[in-house]
Amino acid sequence: MTEIVRVPLREWTGSTLSADARDDALHALEAAKILFFPQLPYSVERIELLRANTLAAGSKNLSYDSATGRLRSAELAAPVREAVKSALERYCTSARSLVLGLFPRYAAGLIVGRTSFRPAEIAGRESSWRKDDTRLHVDSFPSTPVQGKRILRVFSNVNPEGEPRAWRSGEPFEDVAKKFVPDIPPLAHGVSLLLACLKITKQRRTAYDHYMLKLHDRMKSDAQYQSRVPASAFEFPAGTSWMVYTDQVSHAAMRGSCAFEQTFYIPVEAMESPESSPLRILERLTHARLAS
Ligand code: SIN
Ligand code: FE
Repeated sequence: MTEIVRVPLREWTGSTLSADARDDALHALEAAKILFFPQLPYSVERIELLRANTLAAGSKNLSYDSATGRLRSAELAAPVREAVKSALERYCTSARSLVLGLFPRYAAGLIVGRTSFRPAEIAGRESSWRKDDTRLHVDSFPSTPVQGKRILRVFSNVNPEGEPRAWRSGEPFEDVAKKFVPDIPPLAHGVSLLLACLKITKQRRTAYDHYMLKLHDRMKSDAQYQSRVPASAFEFPAGTSWMVYTDQVSHAAMRGSCAFEQTFYIPVEAMESPESSPLRILERLTHARLAS
């Protein structure tokens, strides 16, 4: 069952923690625990107005690319758009300084991914099984192959009514992999090249990406697995933040609205314990190199 480790940080810098506390946090994170920051709120002015206006435009998730300054979702009126964009840009900067302040060793290889604002209520939301995040899963993105890199995400619950964000978490990655991997056929020859040529994927889909996508899909589509696997529930109160390797920690978001999220990609080589990564675990199980 996933452990939650409380980190008493009050600023988005990370470097204010002692070196020992930072080491402990790194060990915990790479050992597939969730780092929970109960005293680290992300403050956004007039968040209730932003939420109401973005939802009115039909947006469930607004995603922002800090590298290009592009905000996906064309439906927003100009002032709302600018306010969301600046809140997302600031969240990206804050989350980056948190991660780099806590874990300077990640600086060399860190890639900053998408930033998102998630105004919609999760509970009762209609979606296909594949997009249904109330089912336990590990993260993997069909159009963004990571080629072995880790997916690290920082979340902040900014719900203005003080509602928590409720998650569940399932079994350790190795147990998930042992259950599903034996039945996953290997990546078919030529498929990854074809996907890249057709621009369906941004980079080449490696065997690692293939296994991770299949794990995501097989976990979510297996109703029996969902109902029987041991899981723990926890709530992140409004005004708190957390950080987790979502490619490894089996998770489901059950309830809550109004959160910010930042995605980072981290090369396995930058980790303190690369052998604990999903890449190395899958390579041990399949006796193959999966990302080269
Ligand atoms: C997810 O990554 O499955 C969703 C997490 C959330 O929005 O709280
Ligand atoms: Fe997820």
